Amino acid sequence: MAKVKYDMELRPNPRSGRYRLISANWKMNLNHLEAIQAIQKLNFLLRPSDYSYTEISIHPPFTDLRPLQLLIDSDRMRIRLGAQNCHHEPSGAFTGEVSAPMLARLNVSYVIVGHSERRQYFNESDETVRSKVKAVFNSQMTPIICVGESLQEREQGETEAKLRTQVDTAVSFLPPEIAERCVVAYEPIWAIGGGISAKPEDAEQGAVTIRGIFQELWGSDVAGKVRIQYGGSVNPTNAANFMQLENIDGLLVGGAALDPESLARIIQA
Ligand code: 13P
Repeated sequence: MAKVKYDMELRPNPRSGRYRLISANWKMNLNHLEAIQAIQKLNFLLRPSDYSYTEISIHPPFTDLRPLQLLIDSDRMRIRLGAQNCHHEPSGAFTGEVSAPMLARLNVSYVIVGHSERRQYFNESDETVRSKVKAVFNSQMTPIICVGESLQEREQGETEAKLRTQVDTAVSFLPPEIAERCVVAYEPIWAIGGGISAKPEDAEQGAVTIRGIFQELWGSDVAGKVRIQYGGSVNPTNAANFMQLENIDGLLVGGAALDPESLARIIQA
């Protein structure tokens, strides 16, 4: 399994040694023509130093992947292509599905796995998420594994237990040299899409819990390499509050990432 190749100019966070990763989850928005415009504008707005500071991945709908791949290649943009989902089998009679090897052929680097909307609307279980994590690594890509508790679970004090089950089921089968490459996005469900983000201390607590699970499974060396994003109503005003946190290495941005100007401001925050 190949590692994500880091461009020589990308600098890790000197405090943690980890590469920052800001990812735009466009969900079911922007057709391929709108996507081309958005990524061109984003590339125009970003300065070379922005790319050196943070790795950037864009996760558009499947229909946008091929045109964006061609554009990123031809204009040598330092933006990584991402997907929002994949099927766990490499091929077969699964009408309407897209496999990990198909995404890898499009130079996709990161695949979001187990987003709460997939879990909620498409009945994805922790076991489904686990098989997708395996499929993504088998195709030399990196999963962004989404975990997070509902408001009810938080109010009943079940946040840690929920994160434990989700993370443990998704990753515990991995050998340590693969486990350390995981990206986990802590996305409290109650903070998604409503405009009210988690408090930084709650995001940090979620990240500490997640890193702790890697520590228990594989020790501090692996745990120290895993990258953890925060997601849920991130915007240009609150982005820096999360990026300053010790255990947060990046952001998974939904609504605010649809507008290139606001995404650029988040990256520059
Ligand atoms: P919002 O940023 O729109 O809250 O969405 C977060 C999210 O679900 C990213 O995956």
